[in-house]
Amino acid sequence: MTNWVKNTWRNKPRIQMPEYTDEAKLNAVEAQLTHYPPLVFAGETLTLKEQLAKASRGEAFLLQGGDCAESFSEFSADNLRDTFKVMLQMAMVLTYGAKVPVVKVGRVAGQFAKPRSAATETVNGVELPSYRGDIINGFDFTSEDRVPDPNRMLQAYTQAAASVNLLRAFSTGGLADVHNVHSWTLGYTEREEARKYREMAQRIQDALDFVSATGIDATNSAKLSTVDFFTSHEALLLEYEEALCRKDATTGLEVAGSGHMLWIGDRTRQIDGAHVEFARGVANPIGLKCGPTTSEEDLKVLLETLNPENEAGRLTLIARFGAGKVGDHLPRLIKTVEEQGANVVWSCDPMHGNTVKSNSGYKTRPFDSVLQEVQEFFAIHRAEGTVAGGVHFEMTGKDVTECIGGIRAVTDEDLSSRYHTACDPRLNASQSLELAFLVAEELQKGR
Ligand code: PEP
Ligand code: CO
Repeated sequence: MTNWVKNTWRNKPRIQMPEYTDEAKLNAVEAQLTHYPPLVFAGETLTLKEQLAKASRGEAFLLQGGDCAESFSEFSADNLRDTFKVMLQMAMVLTYGAKVPVVKVGRVAGQFAKPRSAATETVNGVELPSYRGDIINGFDFTSEDRVPDPNRMLQAYTQAAASVNLLRAFSTGGLADVHNVHSWTLGYTEREEARKYREMAQRIQDALDFVSATGIDATNSAKLSTVDFFTSHEALLLEYEEALCRKDATTGLEVAGSGHMLWIGDRTRQIDGAHVEFARGVANPIGLKCGPTTSEEDLKVLLETLNPENEAGRLTLIARFGAGKVGDHLPRLIKTVEEQGANVVWSCDPMHGNTVKSNSGYKTRPFDSVLQEVQEFFAIHRAEGTVAGGVHFEMTGKDVTECIGGIRAVTDEDLSSRYHTACDPRLNASQSLELAFLVAEELQKGR
């Protein structure tokens, strides 16, 4: 990587990052994090890259999902387990429907820092800095809470480490064993999508029983009893990212140790900016959000900057245009990618282009718009003859009421009952599962 070391981003214009006032404290936290162990290892990020290379060719499908923003207060083993279970269910629905392996990547164990559209927030005439995620400042609307505090990075690291530890245990300790396919359901997903899931689980169970009746011992197969589950987050807070970046002793590669996959947000993808500069030098798989303002010229530069070797699996383009707008933007960006001969995974984020303010005043997303954007994304890839390689959702295993619609319809009036997100509205477990069945239908139409 030419002219890159882990701190060259400091010479570039940075946006969406906090101005820390206590420099000594900031330096001390960075020094401490630099000595802490990385949360992921080089070999794992390369495995993910190989799996994403398959997704880029249509031989696998990426399922990326989790909280918009992880928070310190909502952190618990139960929450983590429930989101993990919903992801397993969704992955099973997609694998069963599409007959390809599903690459499972959580927005988890590091998804703490948030870009904001406004630097400040005004409530009843009082203006304070905006909340930027628990790794930066506090959610409460008080001047103390809203001051960026470097020590929050240490708490985020601790939470991320505990999360990775538990996710590894879930992945290999029995919970994810396909023989447990029935047990991944959550109590409150009781309607149509749950019935469909139970029927599918029964067919999978029958297939497993058949295999074992033939004398093949499937109970000890690592492929069936464990899963690969990867972590990802937006690499927004570059002091944290730099401090956890490590040179891998075996390969000599510079690897971001904060998570397996990092992405660059729609607001921080400036070609000469700090975020692109940091991401270009680390060997991890990188995601790049593409929105309505992504120009063909910029995308061309970004493809070259972020993936100069044109390595398959290195770069995932996460399209987030909004329902009704995919046709205006995706074809022109697909054309750019095709003209460059660039290897990318095309993934669809149907969340961030579909945020609206409900009549009751909550930030929400209509389930129908989310679904519509997914359908437009698939239809365009079919028409262009390119590969729809994955989906990216904000979702939770909890029974929240943040997005309206779905079979078990959440209404505008319901939003206030269980609206828990620290940032954007998430799909609840029922809505996530319902969407997985609908995505599986799209995958079956061919891509
Ligand atoms: C996000 O993924 O939470 C996010 C802020 O997305 P975007 O950068 O696409 O707006
Ligand atoms: Co979000």
